Amino acid sequence: MSHILSIDQGTTSSRAIVFGPGLRAIASAQREFTQHYPSSGWVEHDASDLWVTVAGVAREAVEKAGLHASDIAAIGITNQRETTVLWDRRTGQPLHRAIVWQDRRTAGMCEALKAQGHEKMISARTGLLLDPYFSGTKLKWLLDTIDGARERARRGELCFGTVDSWLIWNLTGGRVHATDATNAARTLLYNIAENRWDDEICALLDIPMQVLPEVRDCADDYGVTRADLFGREIPILGVAGDQQAATVGQACFAPGMMKSTYGTGCFALLNTGAECVVSQNRLLTTIAYRLKGQTSYALEGSIFIAGAVVQWLRDGLGIIRHASETQGLAEKADRGQELVLVPAFTGLGAPYWRPDCRGAIYGLTRNSGPAELVRAALESVGFQTRDLWEAMRADWPGAAQGVLRVDGGMAVSDWTMQFLADLLGAPVDRPVVTETTALGAGYLAGLQAGLCPEPDEFARDWALDRRFDPDMAEDEREGRYRRWKKAVEATMSLAG
Ligand code: G3P
Repeated sequence: MSHILSIDQGTTSSRAIVFGPGLRAIASAQREFTQHYPSSGWVEHDASDLWVTVAGVAREAVEKAGLHASDIAAIGITNQRETTVLWDRRTGQPLHRAIVWQDRRTAGMCEALKAQGHEKMISARTGLLLDPYFSGTKLKWLLDTIDGARERARRGELCFGTVDSWLIWNLTGGRVHATDATNAARTLLYNIAENRWDDEICALLDIPMQVLPEVRDCADDYGVTRADLFGREIPILGVAGDQQAATVGQACFAPGMMKSTYGTGCFALLNTGAECVVSQNRLLTTIAYRLKGQTSYALEGSIFIAGAVVQWLRDGLGIIRHASETQGLAEKADRGQELVLVPAFTGLGAPYWRPDCRGAIYGLTRNSGPAELVRAALESVGFQTRDLWEAMRADWPGAAQGVLRVDGGMAVSDWTMQFLADLLGAPVDRPVVTETTALGAGYLAGLQAGLCPEPDEFARDWALDRRFDPDMAEDEREGRYRRWKKAVEATMSLAG
């Protein structure tokens, strides 16, 4: 029983990885599922798709590894955060499709709450901002919209959960309704300094507290799976939101360490240790992890479009067939052209928080072609990261240490990582294992199972694949960044 099964339920696919001794990945499986866009700015997932694909990939990964359930000591879960599920406690049936973190339907609700002057109180307690990104207003929307839901919630008949809770519920056959501190911290309903659900915010949003899951540590006991799923009960011992799991997987345990994950979006987290730093620059304060009841905090910058811009080049524009083609095209692009792409496809996240903005391209000429567009798309990821980097350094002096650890799909692009280092004027470190999200969840479960070492020792094993050192003259770096800032300003003013 020396293996760990790590489940990573993401925005576009569900994955499972089996880790062997020393947290070496030995098998994996992945399944995509349908995205639903019922209206402009709305994004939904069928909650049963999330569960069915997770159950499928979990079994497939164990099989591919040539193992049996009896070889798996524990399960770790990591997940897309904020996505909101509401289900019937008796039947386990969802009342509605899950409302995805990218969904903007509650923008008006957030504006109204801001206009009533509630943002300061909510930010002070949750570390978040009044943006439709978070679960609280999505849950309120469900309770407002579904006939009789609020009454049923009051009677204790319904369960709310982020995706981790929904999976734990299904894995345990409805025996456990729980979440971990990092996922709770993304709901807009959780007081992160006091580590408890906030009754005043729940009252303000008219959310009956009976729907909320119990909050546990990231390495903790989350019950055991139904015996029929794998042929044997397996304990669930680790849970963290995907960005926090990546922070753990990157071994960013010391205050001042920072990681950035390039998936659909880009999420940079800076560990601030026991200090719950309040951002003056529109970053989020969040829980990095909670171990043995001790909370470590982070400043987070969330960007909604990173890898998704490459998907757009492929599926929207059709100018590439595969993400791997971007590097060659970017290298070929005419250096004389300075296209700037602001990928505000679903609004702008940190540090601008403008759900109303839409994307823009500046500097087009008759000679602008696919190569220039691809380069501008890859560069937009670097520019957005620089925005977060600046905000973090302004917020917290400890951020000045200045190395960025990167992971996620786009981190494999040498061209993009070199541009990132150039633009930050700081080294960018890519680890050998870029599957850091699943690794982090696996580590948490392994820690609780007694199979993995304490964080300090785990951090010593973190291995560097490649360091990208900055190689751009300072005046070019600053000139290009100024141009980006102007493009963002223009995009925001266009939106009103
Ligand atoms: O906050 C949203 C984030 O957790 C989604 O991550 O990797 O599924 O794009 P990802």
